[in-house]
Amino acid sequence: MMRHLLADDDLSPAEQGELLALAAALKAAPFSQRPLAGPRSVAMIFDKQTLRTQTSFSAGIAELGGHPMVIEGSLAGIGTRESVPDVARVVGRQAAAIVWRTDAQQRLEEMAQHAGVPVVNALSDDYHPCQLLADLLTVSEHKGQLAGLSVAFLGDGACNMGSSWLLAGATAGMHVRIAAPQHFQPDQGVTDRARKIATTTGGSVAVDDDPVTAVRDADVVVTDTWVSMGKEAEVEQRLATLAPYRLGAELFAHAKDDAIAMHCLPAYRGTEIDAEVLDGPRSVVWDEAENRRHVQKAVLVWLLGAAG
Ligand code: NVA
Repeated sequence: MMRHLLADDDLSPAEQGELLALAAALKAAPFSQRPLAGPRSVAMIFDKQTLRTQTSFSAGIAELGGHPMVIEGSLAGIGTRESVPDVARVVGRQAAAIVWRTDAQQRLEEMAQHAGVPVVNALSDDYHPCQLLADLLTVSEHKGQLAGLSVAFLGDGACNMGSSWLLAGATAGMHVRIAAPQHFQPDQGVTDRARKIATTTGGSVAVDDDPVTAVRDADVVVTDTWVSMGKEAEVEQRLATLAPYRLGAELFAHAKDDAIAMHCLPAYRGTEIDAEVLDGPRSVVWDEAENRRHVQKAVLVWLLGAAG
């Protein structure tokens, strides 16, 4: 059956575990799987800026024996010059899979419906599932487990990373606590989905406005930019409202002594996170960036296997 990765909860707890194990195996032996040998092409379409996604997918696709085909969204004009279904049909005839960074989640769903090949969400306004797999691999490397750990996510809880932490963290059996002011709390529907998943995995979900409550005794403390791509017009209001959620040494001190600090990058030192935390000994941000490549290779191997 054709599978896609559009949102974190497209993966069951067992599938998420399988993918993370495959990613760890590919990290240990990077050239052990060559499903794209030929080379077959994987299309990467970017409607938003990118550094980690383009480099990690390009390197990963090459390591799988394939050819990374980069398509600049503004040249293709998806949804303006031609419709999403027409683009899907055309690109799906050239590429073995389609990786797309875009805004509305519904565009990805439409692409998946018409492409005839697996589609991977490389960040949308709603979710960032590739980043979450990288983050979970990073946590398991540093902590030796996922289930039962507590993770605090601070700041813009309504952004893609907040939603993805809720869903993927709950799927992994973690205790996910979001600390965000009222207008930056996650969508209720996403929180409800995460809570339902947590009942099956032993995890839990909490949303609150107090950063200290969320960080207290946490194993993992996560933040993200306060101005996600597409929200640039709101910069002043966001910086003012989110100021109490900055991850500085004082706030981080409420977490466990061996807690790790995470950030998907790009980071703004002195805004959502202080340099002494981001560049400090308990920061794992560069591991997260590297692990994008390993988990995305696992996603492609797995999706191509499912597609036959
Ligand atoms: N929330 C951020 C993540 C960047 C990787 C954004 O959407 O811009």
